[in-house]
Amino acid sequence: MFTLRCLVDNHSSDVIRYQAEHGLAFAIETPAGQILFDTGQSGKVLLHNAAQMELDLCQVDVLVLSHAHYDHTGGLDAFLQISQPGLPLYAHTELFRERYAIKDGQARSIGLHLAQTDLAQRVTLHLSAKPTQVLPGVWTTGEITQRTEFEGRSAHHYIRAENGWQLDPYRDDLSLILEAQAGLILVCGCCHAGLLNTLAQARRMFDKEITAIVGGTHLASLDANTLAHAITILRTNNIARSPYLYLNHCTGEHALAVLTHAFGEKVHLCPAGTVLRFD
Ligand SMILES: [Fe+2]
Ligand SMILES: [Fe+2]
Repeated sequence: MFTLRCLVDNHSSDVIRYQAEHGLAFAIETPAGQILFDTGQSGKVLLHNAAQMELDLCQVDVLVLSHAHYDHTGGLDAFLQISQPGLPLYAHTELFRERYAIKDGQARSIGLHLAQTDLAQRVTLHLSAKPTQVLPGVWTTGEITQRTEFEGRSAHHYIRAENGWQLDPYRDDLSLILEAQAGLILVCGCCHAGLLNTLAQARRMFDKEITAIVGGTHLASLDANTLAHAITILRTNNIARSPYLYLNHCTGEHALAVLTHAFGEKVHLCPAGTVLRFD
């Protein structure tokens, strides 16, 4: 049994109890231990919502970061104030690369604001571009290098390369795969590598059906044809049945409406405060 609690999202399921901010974090309870997947933007929302859900973040056994962006790593400092010393932290090898948003000629730093040397004193770093088991039955996708389908891209995202600014290749982007009895659960942070590319990676790693997709899927910038293509793939391509979708963060309202039209009751919002259980 896996229990997922959405601790941070752009929206709240109950504005009295739960705060919202642009960002994402999930607590994932597994038979082998407790995982925190991303930390949201401020740390304040993460800690507040965890307290409201009576979830003790001191008991987290493993931290996984989906990618470097501030809305997923900004709460790291606050979380590390209460986490166990030497906590295992899993992420991609490029987690510490500087990342920027460039708008109107102005570059704004949007990556992780903690140095690797500082972080290495507080956690046990497990940085890898390869799929990695973080607890029994829980894997990172690793870096998704095969990107034959659309990516989850923002036109403003850049890295600084030797010869100047370069569009961020999002090499650091990874998702989590939970091996539930009923099938695989894919948990996405921002899915910059692209939802269909990420699903293809999960299928390469496991010969099992994907029964649910949870989290931010970055479908907001897709045109109608690409969205229709995504729906066709979700229905048919090596997935025996279309998966349940619990979507939030960067998925985009238009994409949500189109997916709901296509998949009906299989599509759910997943605001802060949501609890999902998978056998
Ligand atoms: Fe992102
Ligand atoms: Fe994000």
